Amino acid sequence: MSANTNTVLDFTRADFPEGFEFGVATSAYQIEGASFGGAGLSHWDTFAATPGNVAGAENGSVACDHYHRWAEDFDLIRDCRLDSYRFSTSWARVIPDGVGAVNQEGLDFYDRLVDGLLARGIKPYACLYHWELPAALADLGGWRNPSIADWFADFTEVVMGRIGDRLQAAATFNEPWCIAWLSHFLGQHAPGLRDIRAAARAMHHVLLAHGRAVQVMRGLKLNSVGVVMNLEYSAPVDETEAAIAAARRNEAIYNRWFLEAVFKKSYPEEALAGLEPHLPTGWADDFDIIAEPVDWLGINYYTRKRIAADPEAAWPSLKEVEGPLPKTAMDWEIYPDGLYHFLSWAAKTYSGELPIYVTENGMASYDRVDLTADAAERVADPDRIAYLNGHLAAVKRAIDDGAPVKGYFIWSLLDNFEWALGYDKRFGLVHVDFESLARTPKQSWHALKAALSSND
Ligand code: FCB
Repeated sequence: MSANTNTVLDFTRADFPEGFEFGVATSAYQIEGASFGGAGLSHWDTFAATPGNVAGAENGSVACDHYHRWAEDFDLIRDCRLDSYRFSTSWARVIPDGVGAVNQEGLDFYDRLVDGLLARGIKPYACLYHWELPAALADLGGWRNPSIADWFADFTEVVMGRIGDRLQAAATFNEPWCIAWLSHFLGQHAPGLRDIRAAARAMHHVLLAHGRAVQVMRGLKLNSVGVVMNLEYSAPVDETEAAIAAARRNEAIYNRWFLEAVFKKSYPEEALAGLEPHLPTGWADDFDIIAEPVDWLGINYYTRKRIAADPEAAWPSLKEVEGPLPKTAMDWEIYPDGLYHFLSWAAKTYSGELPIYVTENGMASYDRVDLTADAAERVADPDRIAYLNGHLAAVKRAIDDGAPVKGYFIWSLLDNFEWALGYDKRFGLVHVDFESLARTPKQSWHALKAALSSND
């Protein structure tokens, strides 16, 4: 253990089981530069082009220009001594209209990425969908249209037919809750709807599309197929019955809906109470496809929310209440115990012995570069180092208590386009200057490199 938890990581590889993987995660729209390489428009392009949706009217058209700078970025992963890299493939880049003609240049790009990772000894983890739905499919109702399961199955076939043979693992979706609820009920992400029927349909269709994609990947003989769920600890604001019930409703919608469908062929009662009238006819017949067995489970974890009942509001009649814990630049409370809880709970309740990966965890800060400082101190981010220490301790505790956690991916390699919040919130281990696009490893990158290089 180090004395100073703010500049040094408290662990080495030896603190984790043999073969435990340390990685970093990114996503296509947030880093690539959506305007390059013949990509089609996605609903994030159109959402961002609409006033009021994204802070500072920013968008992902250039982002980190990873499309052209991927080799430099992969060198940074290798030089940090990381084992694995989780990235996503943009549907609109590969099939610009969502269905039909393939943009070969887009497919070639992902092929280059996979080979570029392998050439550096980095294990590739690809996620098929991290939110950039082709705009042409949004025109047809997007996640509200049941045909999306077929469209997504075809996209899966195209991408995995090309790169699946060299992947360490493949995931269908990143964060179904965000795809469905955050985007169709809370209206915060593309397509920006606030409509319970749209949300209910999206919550079902994303699962159906997941199951169809798993079937396609089985047909392609992929044997490490999973899905990535985001889980947020749901704490009642006080001990009243009303707050406890509200927190449970939130938990059912957020944390249990998707896991219960994939692992238990059902939806939680507390969520069905509001959503059932809006689900597509025959929904219960889809569980055999939805629950097509997976090989691993990914969990993204950042924070907890304190929940109160809101009797004035329509179902689910709840609201978030600010919490007392220290917060990140996202205003998210720092709560590592939630990660411990979910790793143990997910294994016990749903995924059993299947490998679990923490597929995202990290924090946003407002980092600045000081070029006069020594290399390791040019971007001081002690809070990120403390955050990683706290959460890695939680992972270790979960493993010690029997949870089958096999890897931990930090969000994110680079500062990037943080969706509706634009470029202001910096999650990277590597700072990006969004004018020059220069990359500068932060103190946390150096601390991680030191931790992963030493074995004692
Ligand atoms: C997750 C997303 C990722 C990033 C982090 C901060 O919900 O998967 O793209 O925005 O949050």
